[in-house]
Order: sequence, then C-alpha cells, then structure tokens
Amino acid sequence: MKLKNGKSFSCVALLAGASRDGRRAVQPISTEPLVAGVLVAGLDSGGPGPDRRASRDRSPTFVRYLIVSDIHANWEALEAVLQHAQGTYEKILCCGDLVGYGADPNRVVDWSREAVTAVVRGNHDKACVGLDDLEWFNPVARTAALWTENALTPENLSYLRNLPKGPLTVDSFQILHGSPLDEDEYLISTLAATQVTAYLEVSPSFFGHTHLQGGFVFRRTGVRRIEKLGAQVQQRVVHLKEDALYLINPGSVGQPRDGDPRAAYLIYDTGEHRLEYRRVSYPVAAAQAKIRNAGLPDVLADRLAVGV
Ligand SMILES: [Fe+2]
Repeated sequence: MKLKNGKSFSCVALLAGASRDGRRAVQPISTEPLVAGVLVAGLDSGGPGPDRRASRDRSPTFVRYLIVSDIHANWEALEAVLQHAQGTYEKILCCGDLVGYGADPNRVVDWSREAVTAVVRGNHDKACVGLDDLEWFNPVARTAALWTENALTPENLSYLRNLPKGPLTVDSFQILHGSPLDEDEYLISTLAATQVTAYLEVSPSFFGHTHLQGGFVFRRTGVRRIEKLGAQVQQRVVHLKEDALYLINPGSVGQPRDGDPRAAYLIYDTGEHRLEYRRVSYPVAAAQAKIRNAGLPDVLADRLAVGV
C-alpha cells in the first residue's frame, strides 16, 4: 500500500476486512511484542536544555514541531511546557481540546490564535461553543463546558467554532483529535488502534483525546503500544523507522490521565525523523486554586494532583 506521503506499507493489508464504507470489525494483526530494538528508544537522562543541534546545518524544509494536545484551559501547565521547550522547536501544532475543565480558556485561546501554526478541534472545543450535544458529557464536563462558553470572549468563541475537523495534513504528516475515522473516538487499546490503521493516510499521525502519552507503532510483525515515561524520566527519544506506521499521542498538557501529573508534550523533528516525548512539572496548586475560585467542580482541581 502506498500512503499519501509516499511510504509503502503492507501491514495494513493484514487487516482483513478493513473497509472505508463503515465500521466493519477487522481481524487484528498479531499483538506479539516486536523484536527488541525495533523501536529505538534512546533514553536521555536530562531535560531538553539548550538547543543541542543548533550548530548543525539543517535544510530549511526540515522543521522541529512542538506538538501539544488536550490543554483544557490550564494556563500554568501550558506555560511550563513553553518554557521547558524553549529553543527546541520552530512551530507549534495542537491536536485539540484547547478548552474545557480548566479556568483559563481565554488565555489559552488567545495564545493559540497568536502562536499555533495549526490546530484541529477537540470534542470539548465543540461542546464549549454549542457545536456538540452536551447530553454526551458527564455532569462535571457539562458544567465546565457551560461555564467555559459563558467565559469566552466573542472573538475566542468564533475562533473555536471555526477550528477545522481533523485529520489535518501538515507537511507530510497529519494531526487529529480522536482517530482517523472519528474525531470523538478514543484510541486506547492496541485492538482499537489496529482497526483504524487501514484508514491512516500518512505516517506519522498525531492524535490526542485519551490524555495518555505514547501511541502505537505498527510493523509487519505486529502492533506495539509506546509506553509512557517513567515517573523520574523527563524525556524519551524515538527514532522513526521507514518500515513502520506510527500513531503518536503527545499526551495531555493540562489534564494528564496516565497517573503522572506532569504536563506532557512532544517534539517531532522532520529532518531527523525522531520524536522526543517529554514531561515537565508545573505549579498544580495555582491551577487548582483558579478552578476552585471560578466555582468549577472540585474534582477538576483534585484530579490534577494525581494525573487521572
Ligand atoms: Fe481532552
């Protein structure tokens, strides 16, 4: 199979029954672990630090992207990410959910309008501007969506209403919120990820929505989940392989749900074909205080401390 970005990949042919005309269940490919070393995960014990490749000659067509997702109006977390990543990227992309849950929707949307090269809409972006039915939301999320809609300025409401639906092509890759098929679908299991692989138009594709940093790598021998970073690890490097497909989740900036309360983000270097998953601590108590002072449900503040 030839993907849009020229990558040939026959793994998808193993997805017997996959079809573009519906959600027909497909036969999963093997979920056996890949051969050690297929996914090169060179650990870097330090944080991003100064731009370590600044002195190299780089083609102007190569870009280092800061990719974020699920910020959820948490300004403190976003500010920490921007400071941590400073000097290590040229452009910013967002896989959706700028707002919802947190107490700083206008500050985050103002930043997005100013600084982000491309962003796709998330389900909370839709819900907070009346583009989605709130009956699908639990009571806490519904309360936060209504509070957010009331708090947003007219300009920011308009910006959110006009965000594009993913997948959105950027350079030779794509960003999306839920899955390549459905912006509201959660890709959590390897089976769910495998079932949508046949619909990937390019690789890598970056998604959010689950608030789980990692993603999936597909090779002829099977699919493998990319695990989150350990609690003491700030960064993990992954070199992308030519004979693999990647569905990559940068993790959530503003409301991680993988048991690690640190803000999550990712750097994608299109020249080096490499990813850097990163985590950074931020002043959680300040974000919590804003949520409580705004009258939003306490659980939205409580969960930030434990990353669930
Ligand atoms: Fe989200």
